[in-house]
Amino acid sequence: MWRKLDHLNRIASTGIVLIIRTDSEQEALAVAEAAIQGGIKALEITMSVPNALDIIRTLSQRHKQNDILIGAGTVMDGETARAAILAGAELLVSPQLNPDMLRVANRYQVITISGAYTPTEIVATLEAGADIVKLFPAETLGPAYIKAVTAPISQAPLVPTGGVTPANVHEWFQAGCIAVGVGSYITKAAQKDGNYSKVTAAAQQFLAAVADARS
Ligand code: 3PG
Repeated sequence: MWRKLDHLNRIASTGIVLIIRTDSEQEALAVAEAAIQGGIKALEITMSVPNALDIIRTLSQRHKQNDILIGAGTVMDGETARAAILAGAELLVSPQLNPDMLRVANRYQVITISGAYTPTEIVATLEAGADIVKLFPAETLGPAYIKAVTAPISQAPLVPTGGVTPANVHEWFQAGCIAVGVGSYITKAAQKDGNYSKVTAAAQQFLAAVADARS
């Protein structure tokens, strides 16, 4: 099976890409494992996490055969893209349009989610070869923006990121997104007491809210 297609299906079917942006390697690994246990199938370790490449390597070795999509986030250039792919990343995410990242990713056939805000940026992102457009920061745009922008640009596969919660996720899907990017709601669930079963529970709750929003 062509892995890229399989991975795109994984994002489309669960409807969530988890963004792990923690202060330590240990916390990132604990959050990732707890979220995977809760049903998360696609996640990115942002390059701002200390030793991000080591975390990606560890998670991709542990979970490749479980078909969990492990990616790198906040990839700002082609060099970082190549390093992340060598570490095992099969998904690259950037907050901005970054042609070097897209070129490297397409060469090795890994999935890309590339940041855009305006209609011009959305179209430029598609033309530059991104698989999915990350609408970022989504909370300042709101779900109505997706409805408005996909009237003329209906071909854009949009993933709003920033401020998405179980309480508002149905609005984003109703407006026409294909999936959502989720960070703090899930990743910070254990922040107060280090009880990572809360991360598992938050992931389950979020996945149920997405399934409900799509039914
Ligand atoms: C990020 O890049 O960390 C995302 O924007 C996360 O957004 P959220 O924490 O509001 O989900």
